[in-house]
Amino acid sequence: MKKHFLIVPLMLIMMVALMAGCTQEAGPEATDGNGEPKTPAMKLIAVGECTFAPFEYIDETTGQPAGFDVDLIHAIAEAAGFEVEYRNMDWNSLIAALQTGEADLVVSGMTITDERALEVKFSDPYFESGQAWCVEEGSPIKALDDLAGKTVAVQINTTADYAAQKLDEKFKEEGKPGLNIKRLEQAADVFNELKVGGADAVISDLPVIQEYLKNHPDSNIIIPEPAFTVEYYGIAMRKQDKEIHELINKGLATIKASGKYDELYEKYFGTK
Ligand code: ARG
Repeated sequence: MKKHFLIVPLMLIMMVALMAGCTQEAGPEATDGNGEPKTPAMKLIAVGECTFAPFEYIDETTGQPAGFDVDLIHAIAEAAGFEVEYRNMDWNSLIAALQTGEADLVVSGMTITDERALEVKFSDPYFESGQAWCVEEGSPIKALDDLAGKTVAVQINTTADYAAQKLDEKFKEEGKPGLNIKRLEQAADVFNELKVGGADAVISDLPVIQEYLKNHPDSNIIIPEPAFTVEYYGIAMRKQDKEIHELINKGLATIKASGKYDELYEKYFGTK
C-alpha cells in the first residue's frame, strides 16, 4: 500500500516533465497543440517591380527588395500562417508570372481596375492612392490642361499611362494639340526623363512622386496640384486560388485590427 502512494505521484511528475521537455525540444512549430505533427507552412512567391519607392525598391545596402509592400506581405504572411518570398520582376511580366505559376502574389502598388480584374483576382484594397503630376519649378505648365501639346513621361501599362491616354483624347476632342506620351519600362525612369529634359512633366502615383521629392531635395521638382484620380491598390492572385484569396484577406484584416498595418503605414508615410 505504502509503495503505491509514492509511485502514482512520481509517475505524474515524470509525465509532466516529459511533456514539457517535448515541447521545448521540438519547438512550438512542430505540433499543432494536440501533439499531431503540423503540416509545413505553405510558401508563396510574391513579386513586384522594385523601382516604385516607397512601395517596393531595392535596398542599397542589402541589395534586396524592401518597402511598404514587402513589409506588408510579410506581415500578412505572419498573421495568416504562411511563408513568403518577395522577388523583383519587370512590371510587364507580373500578371503573366501568376499565370505561368512563377509567382503566386503580385504586390506591386497595383491599382485595382476592371480590366485587370478580368485576368486576376484582387484582394481587398490595402492602400488608397491617386495619380498626380509634377514638373520642374518655373515650368509654364501650371494646371493639368496646360499639358496639351506637351510631353509627359509615364510607366508603360500603368494607371498613369491610362490617365495620360485619356487626357490626350480629351485634348483632341477639345480641338487642342494632343499629349505626347513617353511610355517607359520602369517606374523610376520617368523622373530621369524629366531631369534630362526628355519630358515636360511626369504622371505617377502621388505617394511615389512625394517619395522622390523627399529623396531628391535638390531636384527642383514641384507637385502643383493634388491627385486627380482616386485609386486603390490590391494584391493580385490567380482567380482559381480560392484558399489563397481567403488567407490574404484574413491576414490583411488581422493586421489592420492588430495595429500592425498602422505601424507599417507610419514607418513609410508618417502619421495618417
Ligand atoms: N498604381 C499604378 C498601377 O497600378 C502604378 C503601379 C506601378 N508599380 C510598380 N511597382 N512599378 O498601374
